[in-house]
Amino acid sequence: MHDRIQEGAVIPAKPPNGKFVLDVNKSIPAVLISNGVGITPMLSMAKACTRLNPNRPIWFVHGARDGRFHAFRDEVKAMQQQNPNLQIHYRYSRPRAEDEGHYHSVGYVDASLIKELVGPEAEFFMCGSPPFMQSLMAGLKEWGVPDERVFFESFGKPMNVSSEKQPAAEVTNGKVKQAEIVFADSGKTLTWREGDGSILEFAEANNINPPYSCRAGICGTCMCQIKEGEVAYQETPTAAIDKGSVLICISQPGTSRVVLDV
Ligand code: FES
Repeated sequence: MHDRIQEGAVIPAKPPNGKFVLDVNKSIPAVLISNGVGITPMLSMAKACTRLNPNRPIWFVHGARDGRFHAFRDEVKAMQQQNPNLQIHYRYSRPRAEDEGHYHSVGYVDASLIKELVGPEAEFFMCGSPPFMQSLMAGLKEWGVPDERVFFESFGKPMNVSSEKQPAAEVTNGKVKQAEIVFADSGKTLTWREGDGSILEFAEANNINPPYSCRAGICGTCMCQIKEGEVAYQETPTAAIDKGSVLICISQPGTSRVVLDV
């Protein structure tokens, strides 16, 4: 934006939409539950409530590995100074010694924790990784929370996106266990194995540094052309993907050989 947009330029933009919306005017408690980058919509919801209806009780429950992976920690705490009805619970799965005093419990955010903190008479908003949300949704259902009081932002289930046909590869649950990835622009051909993570993570581990931003299939920054093979998405991409391109932040090889313009 700074390099290319001049004063007076017109930028087309869409307004926010979707169903993951908190009605600030209600009085029933709102429980905002997130992990990882799922914290971002929760921040907006908590801010909106603090500004427009601070009487609505809010629980802000967030899970992170440790303080290094915890965005907006101090910003949410600062919001609490302005809103006595905002309560916070941070849970770290692997806290470091220097995180002492910055988190409330150790482990993963799950339905048992939510039950300890609040009663079932609330609205529940969730945003985070698919396994995190699946476990929470099952827990809330078991607890008897009706579906109409559960809201979530989901990136969906893994899916396969193909470019060209490839010979059959060794596949487990739709994904290959091992694949040769050619990072054509970098001049590197490397063997990816199950457990090496997304193609982006694998590239970074091998000193190839493609551009990225959200690492969640939303922004499109990591999009690159696929010259050969297929990828298997770990989550359904949200970004619009150009024909013949893939998002490497949320995908793994889907065939035994993948050639990328990276
Ligand atoms: S880094 Fe944002 S879509 Fe991959």
